[in-house]
Amino acid sequence: MALLEIRDVTRRFGDFVAVDGVSLSIGAGEFFTLLGPSGCGKTTLLRMIAGFDQPDAGSIVIDGKDMVGVPPEDRNVHTVFQSYALFPHMTVEQNVSFPLRMSKVPQTELGPRVREALEDVSLLGMEKRYPNELSGGQRQRVALARALINRPKLLLLDEPLAALDAKLKERMQLELITLQKEVGVTFIYVTHDQEEALALSHRIAVMNKGQVEQLDEPAKIYGFPKNRFVADFIGECNLLDCSVSAVADGTMFLDVEQLGRVTAIGANGTASGTKGALALRPEKVSIARELAPDACANRFNGHVFDYLYTGDVTLYIVEVENGRRVEVMLPNNAVGRSSKFFEPGDAVQIGWREDAGSFLPD
Ligand SMILES: Nc1ncnc2c1ncn2[C@@H]1O[C@H](COP(=O)(O)OP(=O)(O)O)[C@@H](O)[C@H]1O
Ligand SMILES: [Mg+2]
Repeated sequence: MALLEIRDVTRRFGDFVAVDGVSLSIGAGEFFTLLGPSGCGKTTLLRMIAGFDQPDAGSIVIDGKDMVGVPPEDRNVHTVFQSYALFPHMTVEQNVSFPLRMSKVPQTELGPRVREALEDVSLLGMEKRYPNELSGGQRQRVALARALINRPKLLLLDEPLAALDAKLKERMQLELITLQKEVGVTFIYVTHDQEEALALSHRIAVMNKGQVEQLDEPAKIYGFPKNRFVADFIGECNLLDCSVSAVADGTMFLDVEQLGRVTAIGANGTASGTKGALALRPEKVSIARELAPDACANRFNGHVFDYLYTGDVTLYIVEVENGRRVEVMLPNNAVGRSSKFFEPGDAVQIGWREDAGSFLPD
């Protein structure tokens, strides 16, 4: 049985529908992420799971029990916010033991349990410090220790790393993965950062305008986006407007505007004339002054229009003969390559395999 069942939950603010008929089922021990742009309803959904807010329609079931009318403190759910929300006048020890003291755990148990919780988040030795004597990362760890000390069934995390700089964020991400594995508590993590979601999660629900667009494992979300929104939101992606010319034996023939005829793997039964987009990740596109003759089913001549060097990879924008611009990504560490291979204006060939892109009907 799922630990959390969200069934057709809707939340309106006046005429505005912030969460629109969302259904999700989350298992015990999962690291589950709600991912989507700012304003898509992530926090609203999280607040309803926590019990700070109530759905206008639908139900939220935790451990088989309908949560309607159950206050936050009786839900066995804890929330960690971006703002940490530590008590500034309490030491680390007092902050972390606060939930235990509230639930009248005997004094003698406090010490060992606080130590255990601080060990979980690598903060032993910091017991007597006050929040203003800690770094941002350390404060967030205290917030995590406090949230986990009662071993809730569900830990809700609302953009907990958003305030940290890139380097620290990466370290905290690794720590979160380890921590979740160690404590085995179900995490529901909210972020607008797609890289973070891909790195952390067992499964991701991609949200847009209050609805779930796709729910899948990270590799599926990245490799097989279901529609334009997901393809565009997750990573870099060429979305080439096209229409289906024909489908035969699992091969789809697509007419791409300002490009030409390409082939892709496609489901038989897609009607000719169906409009949509070919989603093509830039790293799936090959580029060379001259591609090997049998290298790619789809190949076009063009020239380098521009490029963006980002350290580990370079993103080239190639304009093909018919005018379409296609993004191509090259790792900068590939064998035999110096830091930059092409200059704007260079004549190049680009190409990709039949199975490199996927057709997304409108
Ligand atoms: N209490 C509220 N009253 C009115 N509108 C709200 C309220 N809470 C959230 N909203 C609106 O609902 C939408 C979703 O908000 P939110 O869930 O906070 O988005 P996210 O966390 O994905 O950025 C936003 O447009 C926001 O302005
Ligand atoms: Mg939010």
